[in-house]
Amino acid sequence: MKILVTGAAGFIGSHLAEKLLALGHEVVGIDVFTSYYSRKIKEYNLINLRINSKFTFIEADIATVDLKTLFQGVKIVFHQAAQAGVRASWGKDFNVYLKDNLEVTQKLLEAAKEVSLDNFVYASSSSVYGDTELLPMWERNLPKPYSPYGVSKLAAEHLCYLYWKNYGVPTVSLRYFTVYGPRQRPDMAFHKFIRALIFGKPIEIYGDGEQTRDFTYISDIVEANIAVIEKKGIEGEVFNLGGGSRIFLKEAAALIVASFPGSAQVVYGGKQKGDVRHTAADFSKAKEILGYNPKVTIQEGLKNEIAYLKKLYQEVVLP
Ligand SMILES: NC(=O)c1ccc[n+]([C@@H]2O[C@H](COP(=O)([O-])OP(=O)(O)OC[C@H]3O[C@@H](n4cnc5c(N)ncnc54)[C@H](O)[C@@H]3O)[C@@H](O)[C@H]2O)c1
Repeated sequence: MKILVTGAAGFIGSHLAEKLLALGHEVVGIDVFTSYYSRKIKEYNLINLRINSKFTFIEADIATVDLKTLFQGVKIVFHQAAQAGVRASWGKDFNVYLKDNLEVTQKLLEAAKEVSLDNFVYASSSSVYGDTELLPMWERNLPKPYSPYGVSKLAAEHLCYLYWKNYGVPTVSLRYFTVYGPRQRPDMAFHKFIRALIFGKPIEIYGDGEQTRDFTYISDIVEANIAVIEKKGIEGEVFNLGGGSRIFLKEAAALIVASFPGSAQVVYGGKQKGDVRHTAADFSKAKEILGYNPKVTIQEGLKNEIAYLKKLYQEVVLP
């Protein structure tokens, strides 16, 4: 089976592509190395992929690449490419979110309607729910994003649904809840905390640290993506993917600090615009229909991320 993974040099896309290859699929990965974070980190993500003869990498912008050629022989699309990050989505950079999250998804869906795909799986986000007190969040809640990023992810999710309804593009949207583990993006809290400790710097927590997140380990997210393509009759559906590890941010920070020798200074910075107070996933729908069952505990997952980042920062020198 030939499978297209967009955003293949990124955190989630690279893990997903590796798993698909391990399952015996042929994978085409596309990524343009957006400048949101260092290309060196993304090249490091690609190391195992580039040496696999069943993997083809295309360095191109989805907005301008010839999609007809790209889609040749492809039966499944995992659309992971996006401009991620809540905090950067205000102001003039909103244009980037419009282009990489909305326009790119629309272009892919237009190309998808011209071919006969088995699945088009879209990486959506818990950010679509916004700053709600209706916890846990479940798929029937009215989405009410709290950041421009959330708006762009929700709008693209709607596009996926309407291309299914109007053109039969077999889309499914997966709402990821704060994904972590090896290769986590450098703008995300755990990565920042661990990097600070590696370099002997203070940890900065935005707000009072009493915000909670439903942290989801990367391999659980990958498993859920695979489960989607193994299931028939779920086109047009949306699924929450939480990790079942909902904890206070300051609790997670304490776990990370405890993994390093000595003590660390923790400073509290201002609350960031667009950051919601709590996230908590009701993933009973994914459990029932996809057999989704997140396995990795926060302790185990953090251990793996710490080990990975120690290696990364030993081997890759960043400016
Ligand atoms: N990481 C999380 O916690 C999380 C949570 C919810 C949703 N998501 C979603 O999951 C997906 C993957 O997130 P990630 O954390 O791996 O992000 P990432 O930034 O590591 O990966 C995204 C990749 O997409 C590429 N890209 C962006 N625009 C492109 C374009 N126009 N053409 C080609 N490549 C392009 C980037 O260069 C990047 O390598 C995104 O859609 C994101 O919105 C992530």
